[in-house]
Order: sequence, then C-alpha cells, then structure tokens
Amino acid sequence: MEDEVQAILEQARSALAEPGADKNLLRARFLGKKSRLKILMKGLKDLPSDQRPSAGAALQKLRAELEELFSRERGLPSDGKKAESKKEASRKTRISRATLETILDDWSRPGIARRIGYDHPLRRTTEEIISIFRALGFGVAEGPDIEDDRHNFTDLNFPPDHPARDTQDTFFIDPPDSENPLLLRTHTSPVQIRVMEHRVPPLAVVVPGRTYRSDAADATHSPIFHQVEGLFVDTGVTFAHLKGTLGYFVQGFFGPEYRTRFRPSFFPFTEPSAEVDVSCVVCGGTGRLGGGSEGETCRICKGTGYLEILGAGMVDPEVFEAVCRRRGDRIFDPEKVTGFAFGMGVERLAMLKHSIEDMRLFFENDPRFLEIFS
Ligand code: PHE
Repeated sequence: MEDEVQAILEQARSALAEPGADKNLLRARFLGKKSRLKILMKGLKDLPSDQRPSAGAALQKLRAELEELFSRERGLPSDGKKAESKKEASRKTRISRATLETILDDWSRPGIARRIGYDHPLRRTTEEIISIFRALGFGVAEGPDIEDDRHNFTDLNFPPDHPARDTQDTFFIDPPDSENPLLLRTHTSPVQIRVMEHRVPPLAVVVPGRTYRSDAADATHSPIFHQVEGLFVDTGVTFAHLKGTLGYFVQGFFGPEYRTRFRPSFFPFTEPSAEVDVSCVVCGGTGRLGGGSEGETCRICKGTGYLEILGAGMVDPEVFEAVCRRRGDRIFDPEKVTGFAFGMGVERLAMLKHSIEDMRLFFENDPRFLEIFS
C-alpha cells in the first residue's frame, strides 16, 4: 500500500508540473469519484482486519496530501469563489486589527505621536498684548470673575442708580438691591481698586481677564468676552504718558505704520476720558478702498479712516478717594499721585488684527478655525 500511495503522489506531482496542466481536471482525476484513491478506499473493507488500520491511515494521508497539492496549485478563483475570498480578506483584516490591538496593549512599545494642542487665539492675543506692556515695565495682576458691586461699580465712581450702570448690564448672583451684591464683573477695572487696596505707588500693572455683560451673541457681541486693563499710578503721571504708552502699544501690536487717535469720551472712573482709535487696518487710514480719494468708501471704518480699540483716561480723583477710604490712609491722596488707566477688548483686537468678521468663532472652538493660529 505504501508503494502505491507513493506512486500516486508522484503521478500527481508530475502531472501538475506538465506545461498547460488543467488543475481542475487533475483534481477530479486524483480525488474524484473514479480516482484511484477512491477505489482503494472502497477496497479497504475487503482487506484483512490486521492490515486495515495502517492502509486506512496511509490513504487518509494521501488524500490530505493531494488536497494540499491541488489547493495550493489551484488557479484563479471562479466567480463563486471570489465572494469567498472577500470573506477571507475581511477575516484577515479582523485578524490584523486584533494584532494591532495587541500591539497597542503593549505598554512597553514607543508611543504613537498624537497632535498636541495649541493655545487658543484669545490666549495668544492676550499674551501678545501683555508682552508689549511687560517691555515697558508693567507687571501682571488678576482679580476674580465673580466680583462685588463695590469693586465693579461703587468705588469706580458709578453712584447707585447712575445711568452709567445701564451701559454695563450684567448677571447678578445676589439680588441687585441687596447690600453689595455679588455679580459677574462687567470689566476688568475693578482690579484697579483691588491692586490699589494692596499696593503702594509707583505701580504699573496690566490685568487680563474674562468679563461679562448681558448682551446677546452676534457678530460683534458676546455675553462673555475678554479684556486687558492697564493702570499706572505715580507722582507726576500725565496724559502725555498715556498717549505715549498707548501709541507704543498700538505700533507693537499692529505695526509701526499705525497711528492712534484720541477722542474725548466719558467713563465715571477717569477724568478726562478718551476713546482711542487706530488707523483702519483695511484702508490704511484713508477711508477709501483702492485709488485714493476716488475709491469706494471703506466698509470697515465706514470712511472715517479709524477704528475704535479701547477706552482710557486719567484716574478720577474720586477713585483715589474711594481707595483712601478703604485703606484708611492717604497713600493714594489725589493731591499727591496721579495715574492713567485703559481697558481694551481682546476679541476686538484679535478680530482687527486677523480680519476675523464674527466674534462667535472664538467661542465655537471649531478646530479648523483654531488651527489657523497654531
Ligand atoms: N472699563 C472700561 C470698559 O470696559 C474701559 C476703560 C478702562 C476705560 C480703563 C477707561 C479706563 O468699557
């Protein structure tokens, strides 16, 4: 039997090796119903019982070997088999995914680099503003988002029931008519008071922070926004120092070709007060687009050539008086010290600098927007 088995195997191999061999036909010849193998298998039952087991084993082995031979040598799969091979492929994908998971579970392997985050454009703008003032010797101070009425309004010379409070409508945490209610600060100016309560002149600080007003969100308003406040108190501080400082800031932030313009204004806590404009980032201060005076009116500055960027002024003596009352001393006596203060909106500055038309983009946090500033 052994010899016969070997002979069949030899025949199968050489038949397959022949050029132009038809594998399907050969498979039928060697494994089909009429094959020598099948005949031998059928004859097993007629063998003497002591030979049957070994002959059976030899034939099983032969069949396995022939199957192997023809499966390896099989030609392109027919259509019916394509579907099967797809199934095989998906099984392979599953296997490789499983392998991948095993790899990922191996904590000793080197890490897979992921994209690390980046600073939000408002943070970057805030840092940029601060660094310009740092170069002039300003330090940084911060105060609480949840402020009391006294710091946010009263000590800044907003008398109770004064209409100036209406321009900064906010979110009260305590009932508004209670004694010194807590509220969300409407500006960073209350930190002026906090700094003066605890420090002595000369002092120069900038105050970055989040501020709140009861505004509906639109392209240029947001109930939550950011400011950077500035305060400088010393003996002999004048309006000229304020102009020089803000001119330096504007050129550092926007570029050396930018000009500033001061317009008279009103804030309860500064006197005199000014609104400060920068020459228009779009038309360059001409008020016209393209072709000098004949050009179309600039849509951004509405033909004025200037854009408002911040509020400023000389610290009102009433504010110094309030600080003196809180401190119980005369260190901030308005007869001895003077100072200037300013406050700017971070969103507005970032929008002007980077031509961003809608403030809501800062708060939606769409990575496609944030990425631009990375
Ligand atoms: N706090 C003012 C505002 O939010 C801005 C300001 C700050 C004006 C400091 C003058 C001095 O509108």
